[in-house]
Amino acid sequence: MKRRLVDWLACPACRGTLALTRAVPEADDIREGELACVACGARYPIARSIPRLLPPALADEARATAERFGYEWTRFAEIRPEYEPQMLGWIAPVGRDAFVGARVLDAGCGKGRHLRLAAAFGAKEVIGIDLGPAVDAAAQNTGDLDNVHVVQGDLTRPPFRPESMDLIYSIGVLHHLPEPEAGFRALAPLLVPGGRFVAWLYAREGNGWVLALVDPVRRLTSRLPLPLVSGLAWVVTVPLWIALRLLYAPARTRPPLARTLPYASYLMDLVPFPFREVHSIAFDQLLAPVAHYMRRAHVERCFAQGGVALESLRWHHTNSWAASGTRGRGR
Ligand SMILES: C[S@@+](CC[C@H](N)C(=O)[O-])C[C@H]1O[C@@H](n2cnc3c(N)ncnc32)[C@H](O)[C@@H]1O
Repeated sequence: MKRRLVDWLACPACRGTLALTRAVPEADDIREGELACVACGARYPIARSIPRLLPPALADEARATAERFGYEWTRFAEIRPEYEPQMLGWIAPVGRDAFVGARVLDAGCGKGRHLRLAAAFGAKEVIGIDLGPAVDAAAQNTGDLDNVHVVQGDLTRPPFRPESMDLIYSIGVLHHLPEPEAGFRALAPLLVPGGRFVAWLYAREGNGWVLALVDPVRRLTSRLPLPLVSGLAWVVTVPLWIALRLLYAPARTRPPLARTLPYASYLMDLVPFPFREVHSIAFDQLLAPVAHYMRRAHVERCFAQGGVALESLRWHHTNSWAASGTRGRGR
């Protein structure tokens, strides 16, 4: 952990100021140490360079979600060049320019694949938060970048000072919370007035097949041991991979073929990825204990509850929402 990160941190229990009470430094990094709240006295370890700012009690569902995604991200930890166009698709019309000079929070950063991109887009500082063991993969994947920081914590009780961020993005995370609104309500106050909030979320609209076939299976597989779920995902990936190669790859240059295929816009985007990545996407779909497929009105309600004025709500690939807005100046 870099020392300057302390300036943006707050106690997740009482929002008090945190002070560094023990530090084993290694160059500019604090590898091991402890943070303490000057208000309530709570103590939080720094382990393997990551401040572990977990709130006092975690619901079983939240813990399971974080553990299960942690298993995924620590096993599929690699960073691929295809992530850049994919991320830009998820956040558009917000683009690289929004990152320049900004202090940016990645809420639910997983293995940190977007932290590297946010830094490359010109962010001044990038902070990733995740609840589970994924933070160790994120820290490893960004250890060479001086302006990237990784924190373990719960985004519904975020360990950051109010109005400390210029831009918050959250990709594929808030629909996995028991109550997505809670994420918006907790994160929005971290933005400076006029700061930007970007979220990519599963849509209910356009996801008939997933709701009919994949979601009922997920309700079962989300309770199974993860090595077994990974094996089942591998079995699902084989026919999907064959369809990608034989149908969706040619459809990229043949619009009439694309018009006949289900989920063409989404699945054609997966064509450049290797088998292993498609396996990790199938695994990701099957492991989560909670997945909300959100109606347009639900997304609008979430932004309203956070006090974020929705500026763009785009139906991405006709099966997800790319939503962005600005925190009101009056709050
Ligand atoms: C589908 S993954 C997406 C990860 C990353 N945004 C990406 O696109 O690569 C969802 C992530 O959200 C994290 N997460 C879920 N609930 C969380 C919470 N309450 N606080 C912080 N992170 C959470 C999970 O641990 C997981 O890594």
